[in-house]
Amino acid sequence: MARVMGEAGDVAVDELVEKGRVHRRLYVDPLVFEKEMERIYYGGWVFVCHESEISEPGDYKTSYIGRQPVILSRHSNGQIYVLLNRCMHRGAQVCQEGKGNTRAFRCLYHGWAYDNKGDLLVVPFPEGYGEDFDTSKLGLRAAPCVESYRGFVFASLNPDVGALRECMGPAADVIDLIVDAAPGGEIEVGAGVQKYVYYGNWKLQIENWVDGYHPSFTHQSAFALMARKTGAKPSSQQGSVAKAVSIPNGHALLDFTGSPRAALPSGDGDAEYQAALESRYGRERAREVRESDVQILVFPNLFIQSNGQHFRVVRPISVDKTEVHAYPYALKGGSEEQNRRMASRLGWWASAAGFGQPDDLEAFERCQEGLRIESAEWLLFSRGLHREQRRADGSVVGDVTDEVTQRGIYEEWKARMTDGR
Ligand code: FES
Ligand code: FE
Repeated sequence: MARVMGEAGDVAVDELVEKGRVHRRLYVDPLVFEKEMERIYYGGWVFVCHESEISEPGDYKTSYIGRQPVILSRHSNGQIYVLLNRCMHRGAQVCQEGKGNTRAFRCLYHGWAYDNKGDLLVVPFPEGYGEDFDTSKLGLRAAPCVESYRGFVFASLNPDVGALRECMGPAADVIDLIVDAAPGGEIEVGAGVQKYVYYGNWKLQIENWVDGYHPSFTHQSAFALMARKTGAKPSSQQGSVAKAVSIPNGHALLDFTGSPRAALPSGDGDAEYQAALESRYGRERAREVRESDVQILVFPNLFIQSNGQHFRVVRPISVDKTEVHAYPYALKGGSEEQNRRMASRLGWWASAAGFGQPDDLEAFERCQEGLRIESAEWLLFSRGLHREQRRADGSVVGDVTDEVTQRGIYEEWKARMTDGR
């Protein structure tokens, strides 16, 4: 039995998740949060950046793995290094900028400087150190495992984490579907980022990314406004052909393909786009890609949405504070007008001042407050338990309003937090 010391003493982590319900401690206990950092964020694969954000030699971006600051750095050899942002002298972060291009990271404290794969280049006044002082051992520490899939870069601090592709399983097919919408075979990030912080646990956001139950209620006013503007009635999720799918290893999908939401408006350049897709992928795959409308959680911190062309990343700050970054992306080879139209959906729906996301953030903060109540211990995730179906690839499928996705997330959470994995 896996135990950690919790707010009221000893906690058996594996007793906090049962079939169809999870304990409130998952959201409010700081020591459960510490254990999550160790087991989930430092023990497994975590999304860190998109390759196109640091496409040129010398490009870098600062970010986090869990709570540890990192620099994502493109070396002149083309390789991406994930460097721990901590000077090997006395610990200061060596890079404070969000992004840029540089040949070296120079620590502001005593001037030690490192190249963009972390090797220590300069120690001022080196005669102050003895003969046994070995600069070759004092390079920035780096994540031992870095791999990318279709441009999405993941890193792990655990040298024994295993192959990224294996961890992704069938989630990789969904990413293929999303990225194949680009006639050039790649997506590109370059239209900025939306950032916001909410006062709630990080899992409130990831379970919401794949929650098809809440939109009609949480976003009622946004849908009413859209209906007034466009004359279109908001479609009800109830009875929709859309599906919620739990993918092995904690990944999860809402698949709206075939539902009215999937009918994307066409615009200028649509015929050329169609032709470009067909010439790259063939008619059948082009049709499959165009008809698809998917949004996927890649456990534990990445969400990608095809309809609206953006991805979001969650950064846990503390047990009750979380930052979200949302990035619009462009389809390489797509028309500029089309890319702008699709990416603008991020602005009006999922930005900090959009019509959708603020409603969700309000819900998260209400959950965080409500979960302080100790006399009601459990959150229910049992919706659709009686009608879920397991596929041959290990995925579990339910109605889009069912909590099958959250059950998959917490099954993985439990396996990672205990010795089940
Ligand atoms: Fe970086 Fe001293 S802490 S040079
Ligand atoms: Fe929402």
